[in-house]
Amino acid sequence: MARCAAAASLACALLVSCSAALRPVPAKDELSNGTPAWPDCSPETDGHLAPHNRTGPFTPVTFNDITWQNKYRYYTLLPTSSERSIFPVLIFMHGSASVYEMYSPNLEMYASQGFVVIYPFIEGPKQDHNWWVTNTNGDYIVKGVDYIKTANGNLSSPLYQKLDLTNVIIAGHSMGGTCSIMAAKRLPSGAVKAAITQHPGICGPFGPPPSPSTWMETDLREANLKFPMVFMTATNDGAFWPAPQTAEHELGCFKGANVTGPIAFVQYTTDSCKEDHARDPYADEGHTCAFKIAPETPWVTTAIKLYGQQDGSKTSRCYSMLWGEGEGSLRRDANVEKSLIVNGG
Ligand SMILES: *[C@@H]1O[C@H](CO)[C@@H](O)[C@H](O)[C@H]1NC(C)=O
Ligand SMILES: *[C@@H]1O[C@H](CO)[C@@H](O)[C@H](O)[C@H]1NC(C)=O
Ligand SMILES: *[C@@H]1O[C@H](CO)[C@@H](O)[C@H](O)[C@H]1NC(C)=O
Repeated sequence: MARCAAAASLACALLVSCSAALRPVPAKDELSNGTPAWPDCSPETDGHLAPHNRTGPFTPVTFNDITWQNKYRYYTLLPTSSERSIFPVLIFMHGSASVYEMYSPNLEMYASQGFVVIYPFIEGPKQDHNWWVTNTNGDYIVKGVDYIKTANGNLSSPLYQKLDLTNVIIAGHSMGGTCSIMAAKRLPSGAVKAAITQHPGICGPFGPPPSPSTWMETDLREANLKFPMVFMTATNDGAFWPAPQTAEHELGCFKGANVTGPIAFVQYTTDSCKEDHARDPYADEGHTCAFKIAPETPWVTTAIKLYGQQDGSKTSRCYSMLWGEGEGSLRRDANVEKSLIVNGG
């Protein structure tokens, strides 16, 4: 602190005028350009409390189906606000053999919290339902990061000048969770603000699917050297090994990566990730617990708000919820069986 103060007064001396330093600090609820600050996190608004489903204030959410370069297909969700013109971006990659409808209720909720959601396809909505249409190297997320830059400057795009390109979050589930790790490893520092992975494949060399079709411990380490991350699994995830061994292997991969943080490994309880038929006809237990409105989705909401809207601010409630130890924190969530937080925040 003392060093900062000394540096500031030196800067003032050199600048002749100290007007910049003396400019009034904007009120906490308003940014300097008059745009209201983003709403901070809370267990209520992020959906941590029953009945969980918390639509945010930025509705209605509008849908577009966009094809780019005659090849890349995106479903996009745009929030609405009378006070804001631009929104942070969430690029979310799906799992293998999945359909958009498995994720859409949660994606619409994220959009309503003030995010433009980009949902990339590998080939298309129908084709991606086939088990043989796969991608595990993060190409479609990396391409998505390129796409949003073009779209933001494209007068005929529905996304024209709506995107806050300095606040982009990447995320994904299952195969898409592997993609999120791989994209984070490949993207340059600063390209995105954070990466979230829900139930990624087991790391190599054992896979499945076997290396090089999955991520390696070194990939997670390199990704986390650049970006804050959240890594989720569930005790009853039986996708890659019989439960509870999938979660045990995920934890082994996490520990083997020698991550530097900030990163959270979160393993949800069997009880919180049990089949409840709320998402029929899609199963929502274990591996597909990510389809549920809780317990994972609220923590995705808190994390994307922290890094997409609060700039990772240590004084935000988002921060204390995700990385802290107090009431309402991730560590204290009764739905969490095991959490391992490395250099939170
Ligand atoms: C949340 O509620 C809205 C409005 O009732 C509904 O459209 C949406 O599907 C719900 N989301 C989830 C994940 O259940
Ligand atoms: C601009 O957006 C429109 C509408 O999505 C699209 O048809 C066109 O290909 C885009 N142009 C470029 C250069 O991406
Ligand atoms: C983690 O550290 C151990 C012990 O130093 C080392 O053997 C291993 O290769 C490291 N793994 C990664 C992914 O850096």
